[in-house]
Amino acid sequence: MKLSTEEQAMLSGDFGSGVRKAMEIVCTLGQIYDARRLAPVGSVQVAGVSYRNLGEAGLEFLREWADQSARVRVPTTLNPAGMDLRAWRELGFSESFARSQLAVIDAFGRLGVRATCTCTPYLVGNVPHLGEHVAWAESSAVSYANSVLGARTNREGGPSALAAAITGRTAAYGLHLDENRRATLQVVVRCPVRTLSDLGALGYLVGKAARNRVPLFVFTSGGLEEARSDAALKALGAAMAASGAVALYHVADVTAEAVAGVDVLARDIERLIVDDLAPGYAALSSPARHEPDTNNTSIDLVWIGCPHASLEESETVVALLAGRKVTSALWVTAARAVREHAAGRGLLAAVEASGGQIVADTCVVVAPMRELGFRSMATSSGKGAYYGPGHAGLAVHYGTLAECIEAAVEGRWAA
Ligand code: F3S
Repeated sequence: MKLSTEEQAMLSGDFGSGVRKAMEIVCTLGQIYDARRLAPVGSVQVAGVSYRNLGEAGLEFLREWADQSARVRVPTTLNPAGMDLRAWRELGFSESFARSQLAVIDAFGRLGVRATCTCTPYLVGNVPHLGEHVAWAESSAVSYANSVLGARTNREGGPSALAAAITGRTAAYGLHLDENRRATLQVVVRCPVRTLSDLGALGYLVGKAARNRVPLFVFTSGGLEEARSDAALKALGAAMAASGAVALYHVADVTAEAVAGVDVLARDIERLIVDDLAPGYAALSSPARHEPDTNNTSIDLVWIGCPHASLEESETVVALLAGRKVTSALWVTAARAVREHAAGRGLLAAVEASGGQIVADTCVVVAPMRELGFRSMATSSGKGAYYGPGHAGLAVHYGTLAECIEAAVEGRWAA
């Protein structure tokens, strides 16, 4: 692999031991994947933030790196943490968990990482441009960056993303190269796709079939309006990245490279036809299988905002609530900056007046939800439903946003 003089100096330790360690990680990945060179990155999104997943060993690893005077060289944002960094007490998180989580945030801060704590960095100002190399962890954000924005990133892990931030480089392999960005699976969707949960169910089915291939979607039935919205693309990509390992997809006439006229078709392309979303709904909604002891229809929590909700999605929640009180807990998870915008527009007050919360900095999948007393959940997010049972230990009902809000009001799943 060819290194520039500066890259070689980083590897030799001229910039300190913390930078050398980062460059060793970047170069090792380059060697494993046969990269010919490194690419400078415009930004980094770091995942692996929740103390629940990192534990003491992960915290120590971050502290050591910070002690070695390593600092990020490019704008670097952070994935959700294990709790709302300000309202953790009101939400019921324990003192000991909060202390450890805040220590993690402090270690990232010493490395120069912005504590944005959101999986939607593109909603809070980290918006890479078409063709820009970035190094993002967080599978849904990777999918959005590659597909919707046309930037270039592999699915980084926590340490490799941080190494890219500290060196400002990533190994140029995989989705950084033109030849790996062409569609290898044409997905013809012949059934209507009308709602965000339809897109989550579709994403679940396609992710399972595609694994790590690059799908190109063609919609031959109704519902294209929904598929064109940013929220829809976010939902579709997140679900595919969860059930499969899809890090890039194209939608004819919609996603960045297809619109820019890039040739997105590989020579050998297989075809997948989707006629029915019901199997996706069935697979994502499996309360009895995961929590056999609970009353199958009672709902402890309704979760909206996976990936983190935009302002428009918060508006829709408020419209569907229509001033009614909720019976179960209602969490709309969002970036703190989006929550603040929502407050400015009166949306936060409206959600709170109904008894719900717009929770910042965290999400159900990375927070210790069972310790907070939750056992069952309704969600309209394909990714949220996919991970809810295994990661949060929750029985999940999956349905449309409207059905979820009704469930929050009634305290049970009636769909
Ligand atoms: Fe984001 Fe958590 Fe979903 S990180 S994509 S809200 S699982």
